[in-house]
Amino acid sequence: MIVYRTRDDLTGHLNSVRRDKNSIGLVPTMGALHRGHMSLVEKAATENDVVVVSIFVNPTQFNDPGDLESYPRSLDRDLEMLQKLEADLVFVPSIKEMYPEVDDRIYDLDPLDKVMEGIHRKGHFNGVAQIVSKLFLLTLPDRAYFGQKDFQQLVIVRRLKEILNLDIQIVACPIIREKDGLAMSSRNERLTREERKLAPYIYETLKLAREKKEEFSPSELKDWIGKRFDKIPELRLEYFEIVEDKALKSISDWNEGVNKVACLAVQLGRVRLIDNLNFD
Ligand code: PAF
Repeated sequence: MIVYRTRDDLTGHLNSVRRDKNSIGLVPTMGALHRGHMSLVEKAATENDVVVVSIFVNPTQFNDPGDLESYPRSLDRDLEMLQKLEADLVFVPSIKEMYPEVDDRIYDLDPLDKVMEGIHRKGHFNGVAQIVSKLFLLTLPDRAYFGQKDFQQLVIVRRLKEILNLDIQIVACPIIREKDGLAMSSRNERLTREERKLAPYIYETLKLAREKKEEFSPSELKDWIGKRFDKIPELRLEYFEIVEDKALKSISDWNEGVNKVACLAVQLGRVRLIDNLNFD
């Protein structure tokens, strides 16, 4: 495994990979790796000759400076974990390396960035688009791997690929959960012991809500979810939406012939958790 810190070193290596007609799989991450990330790396390794993992806490996607400051960082442990897997190249750039000057590119992600996370984290998806476009153009991968936990991000990355007109296969990887159902996230490690005990309620609620489909209309189900979260005041529901999986439009009728995904965000202490479940 080789660790590169500069764009020039990474592209030099990748040019020779491409010259040898080898395929490249990219796994973009912000570090603090967990089993969810590992599953992306493992999948990338089965489908590509060379796997590149990037580790970069991207400042432009944080709308809250406090959140950026406290985002977990564990580079040594991350590198140890990647060493055990089949990651070939790890790219760990500095902020200056990725943003030698201010990035003022604005992406037209409308309407995908106007709902859910887009309402609660202003500018977040434009920041994601800035860094992902840089990583795509730098590595020109055959395939890029994203977790379905960040479902809205996944849909937006698919749009970004069209905007950039790049021939990259976007591979969606399933959510990896803890035994009690909590979706794996780097942010989970910031939960207190008490909060961690409450967190599985989120996935439990999503599963129960799916069962209630027969009983309630989508809007009634939203009310039911609101009331269920009101019972545990520590879990503050930010939104619950049932959307179709392409344009992220909220559905009003179960009979709409589209794939449906229920998405939510919950604030638990200092930590904001998101999760989603397929509702078909
Ligand atoms: O999902 C993440 O970890 C980040 O949003 C990504 C895609 C690595 C961009 O910084």
